Amino acid sequence: MHLEPPPGVYRLSLNENLFLPKELVASVTRRALEEVDPRLYTDAYGEGLAERLAEFHGVDAREVVVGPGADYVIYLLASLGRGSGVIIVEPTFEEYERAARLFGAPVTRVLLGEDFSLIPDRVKRASGRVVYMASPNNPTGNQYDKAAVEEVVGSVNGVVVVDEAYAEYGRYTLVQEAPSSDNLVVVRTFSKAWGLAGLRVGYAVANAGLARELRERGRVFATSALSLKAAELMLDHWREVRRAVEEAKLVRSWLIGELARIAKPYRSDANFVMVRLPLGSGKAREELLKRGFAVKDVGAKPLCENCIRVTVAPRQISEKFLEALREVVQRSAQ
Ligand SMILES: Cc1ncc(COP(=O)(O)O)c(C=O)c1O
Repeated sequence: MHLEPPPGVYRLSLNENLFLPKELVASVTRRALEEVDPRLYTDAYGEGLAERLAEFHGVDAREVVVGPGADYVIYLLASLGRGSGVIIVEPTFEEYERAARLFGAPVTRVLLGEDFSLIPDRVKRASGRVVYMASPNNPTGNQYDKAAVEEVVGSVNGVVVVDEAYAEYGRYTLVQEAPSSDNLVVVRTFSKAWGLAGLRVGYAVANAGLARELRERGRVFATSALSLKAAELMLDHWREVRRAVEEAKLVRSWLIGELARIAKPYRSDANFVMVRLPLGSGKAREELLKRGFAVKDVGAKPLCENCIRVTVAPRQISEKFLEALREVVQRSAQ
């Protein structure tokens, strides 16, 4: 699967950070390359980065598990559900299901409410050793009510994975609560707000015992030395990252307002917006692509009929996108 968009197409389908200047991440990566000796294996489990992340979040390095992308950590977690199964709160990110399948873990699906809220009782009634939820959720965009997430964590026996890939765009994080919890694992990534999707770095924060178990289930030297170093150096640029996040949030509110004139956008605590259209989402995706915009068709997911998901892009690009969407929607009504 080659993901480079065709020339002239804006890729608004993968929720990358289009606000962070490319020069910044490129210069950080160049510096990382200078500091790394590629002949050598580096930290077996990304210990150097784990230490920097621990400082950044105010937790202990033993509570941080680093890997090549959040996806890697998601897969490690699925291995815990091998015998007893996993619970997936849907509609959500596809990778939980694929991870469960890889480890032969039976899957129980639990549906969000009609307004995409988390309903703790539905999760409590299901059985499985690992519960996966994304908050802010992909593709719906909303961050769950904190008390509802805590209720799930406090009342199920299994490990509760809260995937916070988009937390920088949200209203709160549970990172600081994970170390003192028996069963909460928070997953984070450098792919979204931090702008390093192509370098593949993600991590989990959990209590030290659970973190050790996860680390031991993983591969040694899994994350490239270059990626580990670049992620470490990026942490020194939190101010720029935060500025880019704030800018994206401003464009997000404006974009939602504009989308509301054309279709039905949903509230978002992430760097993308889900919109329900008055036409089939597959057709809309196709028509938008012809006009130079790649979006994600999420219409096949439960509760998401006729919905597409679009990355919040800088204002000029978003304006062009709105123009294209307006045309697609108007034509469908003729
Ligand atoms: C909810 C969620 N978790 C994890 C990921 C993947 O993160 P990574 O690039 O770190 O593997 C994504 C990517 O789209 C995502 O939407």
